[in-house]
Amino acid sequence: MNKITVVGAGNVGATCANVIAHKDLTREVVLVDIKEGVAEGKALDIWQTSSINNFNTRVTGVTNNYLATKGSGIVVITSGLPRKPGMSRDDLIKTNAGIVKEVTEKVIKYSPDAIIIVVSNPLDVMTYAAYQIANRHSSKVFGMAGILDTARYRAFIAEAINVPPKDILSLSLGGHGDTMVPLPRYTTVNGIPITELLGEDEINKIVERTRFGGGELVNLMGTSAWYAPGAAAAQMVEAIVGDQKRIFPCCAWLQGEYGLKDIYMGVPVKLGKNGIEEIFELQLNKDENKELQESAKSVKKVMKVLDDMKLL
Ligand code: NAI
Ligand code: 2OP
Repeated sequence: MNKITVVGAGNVGATCANVIAHKDLTREVVLVDIKEGVAEGKALDIWQTSSINNFNTRVTGVTNNYLATKGSGIVVITSGLPRKPGMSRDDLIKTNAGIVKEVTEKVIKYSPDAIIIVVSNPLDVMTYAAYQIANRHSSKVFGMAGILDTARYRAFIAEAINVPPKDILSLSLGGHGDTMVPLPRYTTVNGIPITELLGEDEINKIVERTRFGGGELVNLMGTSAWYAPGAAAAQMVEAIVGDQKRIFPCCAWLQGEYGLKDIYMGVPVKLGKNGIEEIFELQLNKDENKELQESAKSVKKVMKVLDDMKLL
């Protein structure tokens, strides 16, 4: 791929651009921000690691100049406020909806065929906003959260069992909030169900810690996380660029799957060069399905806040 744009050169955007460059996923990464000089500076700093880290991806930064993003194959949108302690992701909607709207309009003007990956919070609803503005097929507009939520879950399980995190295979569904649905029944250590390795109480504790994993970091740092979020978005980029057909939980537009319609939420999808190439519908048990429907309700509530803003 010739060009990938990352909008927002803050913590998550810069980290994402850095991982994309390190993996040499494209000829050029363009970082965009509204703060004068920030994107330019971070891009230059990342580019200056190229001879040390052995990559050839050119990293450039611009202040609000979307002409430089022209012809991007993928655009990752990370612009917007992060949480502070005491805030929920949903508290961000008033500011971030306007930012995502403005950015999406500018992005599609110069890259009408780009696949758009949204990262800004509240994630499910900001993805819905970008979808409405971009007016593209939903297979080309989707959000990052499930890879991050699952990565936290995998890290906690790996610690508890003392095995490598990459050997934990798992899934988390639902909205990117405290109602997310990590699925122990679909979690194994290289095929061994975790239910055979951990007690119910321990699994429940890990599920709870995962649900509030973002908040745990906000409380520690005063702002939200960026290393894992940036790497997670870059992993989605990698799957698309390499047409890898990997299955990841991503925030996708549902049209009847799981009994849900007209909602963006986390479900397992296949990612390849066309974006979301398939959505997988699992046979959830009664409890799992109940949790997923609760999560959908809370996403719908925030979608309504967006609709009522009449911004789009
Ligand atoms: P940050 O504050 O470090 O960076 C945000 C950047 O966006 C700033 O540099 C700001 O100048 C820029 N920005 C604001 N308005 C803009 C505009 N109109 N055009 C271009 N750039 C603009 O925040 P951070 O930590 O990078 O988080 C970014 C967003 O990602 C937040 O909304 C956060 O809640 C969300 N997030 C989502 C995650 C997920 O799993 N989906 C995980 C982590 C963060
Ligand atoms: C996270 O989960 C804040 O959504 C962000 O870290």
